[in-house]
Amino acid sequence: MKNSIGVIGLGVMGGNIALNMANNGEQVAVYNYTRDLTDNLIAKLDGQTLTPYYEVEDFVQSLEIPRKIFVMVTAGAAIDSVISSLIPHLEEGDVIMDGGNSFYEDTERRYDELKEKGIGYLGIGVSGGEVGALTGPSIMPGGDKEVYEKVAPILTKIAAQVDGDPCCVYIGPRGAGHFVKMVHNGIEYADMQLIAEAYTFLREKLNLSVEEIADIFETWNQGELQSYLIEITAEILRKKDEETGLPLIDVILDKAGQKGTGKWTSIQAIDNGIPTSIITESLFARYISAIKDERVAAQSILSGPEHEQASLDKNVWIDYVRQALYMGKVCAYAQGFTQYKTSSDLYGWDLPLKDIALIFRGGCIIRAKFLNVISEAYQEQADLANLLISPYFAEQIKDYQNGLRKVVCEGIQSGIAFPCLSSSLSYYDSYRTGRSNANILQAQRDYFGAHTYERTDVKGAFHTNWQ
Ligand code: 6PG
Repeated sequence: MKNSIGVIGLGVMGGNIALNMANNGEQVAVYNYTRDLTDNLIAKLDGQTLTPYYEVEDFVQSLEIPRKIFVMVTAGAAIDSVISSLIPHLEEGDVIMDGGNSFYEDTERRYDELKEKGIGYLGIGVSGGEVGALTGPSIMPGGDKEVYEKVAPILTKIAAQVDGDPCCVYIGPRGAGHFVKMVHNGIEYADMQLIAEAYTFLREKLNLSVEEIADIFETWNQGELQSYLIEITAEILRKKDEETGLPLIDVILDKAGQKGTGKWTSIQAIDNGIPTSIITESLFARYISAIKDERVAAQSILSGPEHEQASLDKNVWIDYVRQALYMGKVCAYAQGFTQYKTSSDLYGWDLPLKDIALIFRGGCIIRAKFLNVISEAYQEQADLANLLISPYFAEQIKDYQNGLRKVVCEGIQSGIAFPCLSSSLSYYDSYRTGRSNANILQAQRDYFGAHTYERTDVKGAFHTNWQ
């Protein structure tokens, strides 16, 4: 009997995807470039059947036609080398799926190259980490719709399920799937940084203990802030270091890493004039964190404000922080979804925004209760320019902006950096400012460079002799 699908790349993610497929009744062939990962995976089977192959040709020949091959290797050159090793053994109509965090423009290049050979290529965003890969990730497939149809029964089965619906939906042509995953990660960076800033306020301004903050996050997770990231942060805060007995977060070095997806999100936004300031601030926050030695040196050179430490009513301020965090999140998601909308128009992708919000409700890292409301906002108005002006969010943040303003002001006065919270507020205030100060910029540009300006009353390009 032939295998119904093959998985290449048996690291933790690939191995778990293969197990997930087997758990869902697929006959799965597995192959890894080096033998050790294949053997490790086979050794830990627990009732499932995976059939290992040690030669690419045998692996490919074991698959039923059209062959379906899911590749889960490190983004970049490894994908190209896997594709090259597969091509000689494939036939027209076969399908290769790339489930890694590939850059969407690379996916488009590979798509074009394989299309010429009649081989279907899908760039598939997969979110959920190693547990999600095993138990049900959020899946964002991009490529030709008819190629997706060939693998849809398998992908929808292995995806997370929410309210009976799979967290897998056809995203759009070419690199659309990987693009959506990339921006998902940009939103993830912002969400994580906003949570870190809320934590900082509770710890440094309200002097709460790590345990107390864990309790607060747990409570917040019962309400409209409910999300995977809030949930795991509560668990993280409860974890003790076995060596010292201290909260583990107190011994974790404050230097953040990154693998590139957040950076690509910002670059694409900047290239296309899309204001994603909160997402980009979250990236810069990681960069500033990385220059730890400089920060430590600067601490003894640069002074902070002499701010009178007013005593803050804990319960009142805990609620301000909750409001600030929620509003920051709404602004960050508004930026990410605006990036989807603008890019969809730009590339002609017709991205299904309401469905994207729905498949983010389960499996993925940014899964959250309020994605239901985001989806509803796009259901009501598919071409909504910005989530902030949807009737639901406009009404809700009317009250919450107060909390965000209080928290940001208090932070600024105390000399605590809140890059994403303050950027959220600036974004909100800029977006609702009908008449901005860009008239000054235009005048300056015309003054020193004769770049011309437009007028508010008459159409056309104008130049003034300023001196
Ligand atoms: C996911 C995650 C996943 C991974 C990122 C983290 O959706 O499952 O986003 O893709 O954890 O690569 O990215 P950084 O290493 O850049 O934080």
